[in-house]
Amino acid sequence: MSVQTAPRRHVTIHELKRMKEAAEPIAVVTAYDATAARLVAAAGIDVVLVGDSVGMAVQGHDSTLPVTIDQMIYHSAAVRRGLARAGGHPHLVADMPFGSYQASPDEAVKCAMRLVAEGGAESVKLEGGQDFVGVIQRIVRAGVPVMGHIGLTPQSVHKMGGYVVQGRDTDKAQQLLRDARALQSAGCYAVVLEGIPTELARIISGQLSVPTIGIGAGLHCDGQVLVLTDLLGMDDGFVPKFVKRFADLGQAITGAVGTYVSEVKARSFPDDAHSYHSSAVRLVPVADEQEERHDEAAAFGAPV
Ligand code: KIV
Repeated sequence: MSVQTAPRRHVTIHELKRMKEAAEPIAVVTAYDATAARLVAAAGIDVVLVGDSVGMAVQGHDSTLPVTIDQMIYHSAAVRRGLARAGGHPHLVADMPFGSYQASPDEAVKCAMRLVAEGGAESVKLEGGQDFVGVIQRIVRAGVPVMGHIGLTPQSVHKMGGYVVQGRDTDKAQQLLRDARALQSAGCYAVVLEGIPTELARIISGQLSVPTIGIGAGLHCDGQVLVLTDLLGMDDGFVPKFVKRFADLGQAITGAVGTYVSEVKARSFPDDAHSYHSSAVRLVPVADEQEERHDEAAAFGAPV
């Protein structure tokens, strides 16, 4: 088990650039609450993403579309507290949810600033390529670093016609390369490449000076990101090809809770070791409730 215990320097966006230049892979994972944040920080993660995948991983939706900016702020603030308890070395980036940046640049800037001010995020992530250059420039100018996200962009599930791998033909691949370069020029400090062929991710990563973070984009990205519940084997449905389960926590949780249920039913939990005792406790006899009420009514002269 490779658990990192030595205190680490805080990971800034400049540190991420340095890591790319030094060819040091960047490890990113999602988290949505303080407990998970504390645990992934203790494991030595570089960046924690409060993803809008919270909609599917935690809220039980079948897409990320219903997630709101207020919910993202709530989860981000919880993750911020968890990271603080673990020493706070990972960078914290929060997703801008569907509807928080597409309608107007002013609204986008306000939402990005709320994620920082109220959610404790250090940067925000948003989905889209060339079309979002103006919005990204406005957010960056407001002082909030932006991580781009292109390829399979879950907020465009209806436009894509499902969660399908992008950039498989030359024209689409060329467009994704243009998108990636446009995001870098707009000021993105990193770009997530999701669901694209490894060959394309390799070309894009080679052409950008900012780090690429891959998910379903092969080995040649500067870093990798996975959804925590996928990585831990807690999902219950279709598992995409790019997901590697590093544990089977789903089975571990069901097994542990099953044992708890059995012990409660068998009255073997709580045992003595999990119970409080006091030799000073004396039982004081009390009248039963019926009798007490009877006495009270009689005292007030009511018919009893
Ligand atoms: O919401 C999310 O978790 C993401 C990652 C999958 C990149 O955007």
